[in-house]
Amino acid sequence: MTPEEAAVRIATLRAEVARHDELYYRQARPELTDFAYDGLKAELARLERAFPAAAATSAASPTARVGDDRAEGFARVRHRQAMTTLDNTYDEAELREFHARLVRALGTEELAYTVEPKVDGVAISLTYEDGRLTRAVTRGDGEEGDDVTANVRTIQGLPPALADLAPPAVIEVRGEIYLREEEFRRINQLQEEAGEAPYANPRNLAAGTLKQLDARVVAGRRLEIVLYGVGHCEPPVATSQTGLHERLRGWGLPVLDPFWSVRGPDAVWAAIGELDARRRALPFGTDGAVVKLDAFAQQRHPRVGFRGMAADGQAEAARKLSPRWACAFKFPPDQAETRVREITIQVGRTGVLTPVAELEPVLLAGTTVRRATLHNADEIARKDVRPGDTVRVEKAGEIIPAVVAVVLARRAPGAAPYVFPRECPVCRTAAVRAEGEVAWRCPNPDCPEQVRRRIEHFASKAGVDIDGLGEEIVGQLLERGLVRRLPDLFRLRLEDLLPLRKSGEVWATNLIAGIAARREVELWRVINGLGIPQVGAAAAKELARTFRSLEALLDAPFAELCRVEGFGEKTAQAVRGWCEQPAHRALVTDLLAAGLAPRAPAAVAGGLAGKTFVLTGTLPTLAREEAAALIEAAGGRVSGSVSRKTHYVVAGEEAGSKLTKARDLGIPVLDEASLRALLVGG
Ligand code: IVH
Repeated sequence: MTPEEAAVRIATLRAEVARHDELYYRQARPELTDFAYDGLKAELARLERAFPAAAATSAASPTARVGDDRAEGFARVRHRQAMTTLDNTYDEAELREFHARLVRALGTEELAYTVEPKVDGVAISLTYEDGRLTRAVTRGDGEEGDDVTANVRTIQGLPPALADLAPPAVIEVRGEIYLREEEFRRINQLQEEAGEAPYANPRNLAAGTLKQLDARVVAGRRLEIVLYGVGHCEPPVATSQTGLHERLRGWGLPVLDPFWSVRGPDAVWAAIGELDARRRALPFGTDGAVVKLDAFAQQRHPRVGFRGMAADGQAEAARKLSPRWACAFKFPPDQAETRVREITIQVGRTGVLTPVAELEPVLLAGTTVRRATLHNADEIARKDVRPGDTVRVEKAGEIIPAVVAVVLARRAPGAAPYVFPRECPVCRTAAVRAEGEVAWRCPNPDCPEQVRRRIEHFASKAGVDIDGLGEEIVGQLLERGLVRRLPDLFRLRLEDLLPLRKSGEVWATNLIAGIAARREVELWRVINGLGIPQVGAAAAKELARTFRSLEALLDAPFAELCRVEGFGEKTAQAVRGWCEQPAHRALVTDLLAAGLAPRAPAAVAGGLAGKTFVLTGTLPTLAREEAAALIEAAGGRVSGSVSRKTHYVVAGEEAGSKLTKARDLGIPVLDEASLRALLVGG
């Protein structure tokens, strides 16, 4: 490779890794498995080392920073001590090299290590001051993270105070937040029923949950936590990792189990083997082992310490990146090879064209894999997947099977590159791609496949929830021309349905009754069922609460949409845009004419209806949950973070950044007494 080629490849890899960092850390919707991602990052690091001059030419590299998880709506908090990340390896020899380096640095063969499960969750830093939990902050960019204290306080197994009569004045305890597999499945089921996109794996769902702005949503999901490390600590509480583990356990904090304290590289390797044998039975997902030099004095040795890398990839910078005293050994994911029979295109209800690899069935991590998403045209081009190719597919945990790469050695001579269709495979309308979007779409709203998917969605559990109207029946109704548009559903007659099934009478009567029973249905279900872009179940509920009828929603001005709880300008614009289209207005009118009679939610009684409160600090007599319950009983809403939409901030002792933000934004601040006055109508 020439330096010029290296420069190009480095720039490409940097952009690609940065994109996957954004998907993983900020959006919690990764497209790559960890293994594939680690591969990209390793290639980038290798090239940056081999071609330092080429590496210095473009912007900062993602190899020189930890992924950034910070999101809108949270207060930012600086870590007292930076949170770093870990170097990964999949290779026993590299692990032994890690030991050899430490032997050289410390001048002794006799090294003690701990071996711990690498928890596949979301990194968190808890601050306990005088033994009381005061803060929970995400890693963020390593220096500064999001304040998620309200959310973390909902975690059942986390004690708000350390069981210690003489706790340290300040300690940052580090660990990981995760969800159990069963809990992941339970929430995803609800998510799908509500018409929201399911999460790919427990880690993403844990990350998404931790970044909820409403702590009540978080409380409804069983997040769990495990703690294994320390940041800033005054005074010190342990002299080794093993000692720290015992202290954390003694304080009543959930700690890692299993946990090994061993001597020398062979014992490390044996412990990793034991972990591998047990890991599938652990409550949290683990994709590897973390090996740490046990003695803190050795960790702090000037020749050990931290790896730091400047943005140009050359000089050692002041910024800590990853410790030289720790190493993550990752277990490779389950992979298999199979052949792509063909690439098909799925048309979604909004017209998005999604390419899918139809595979020769292959057994992978206990399930038979037949299809794998190829995401979009760019992704196919990047991997150069061609029909007939042999590909490696992998599945890590619950993640959707993914095509990792093409096995080029097994490509048939003359295999033609895949050309993404320029038209909808169903209605043949020319596909379009909006500025800045990766997706190609079928722009024809009457495309039979879009219509089918819209009707399925409308009738589904997430929509008006019509019993017995599943995919198969919708398909038949469309085929026979009995239903062309949504309102036709409400005009179906018994004699229309009788020919559809052999023993049709009872079934048809039931379906007609099932449809009739859903004429009077909660308004939010209709709104969600209409498939307005950006509007899922939660947004539909807010719209129903705010506008109380379809007619009012159709005419809602942009400014009022912006004021809807949880809406930004983008969502407001999407709703406004949908409502303005004559075809959509006609659809709503026709649905009402066909007898659909949506029910507005019961008006909330109480003087605080429509008011949003944020609680911060400790109130003199009311616990946070009690204050929240009183506010909600009076029709108010409690949110986890302060924004321009907050009406009141209720502040107690030790109120933190939320109070500052409230003052900055000029939001009225109440103490407990004035809250009580407001509650009784003062
Ligand atoms: S120690 C200074 N121990 O994995 C390094 N990290 O990929 C601090 N992780 O950033 C990390 N299990 O979020 C450590 N037993 C464990 C871990 C663990 C999971 C996470 C942690 C870290 C990431 C690196």
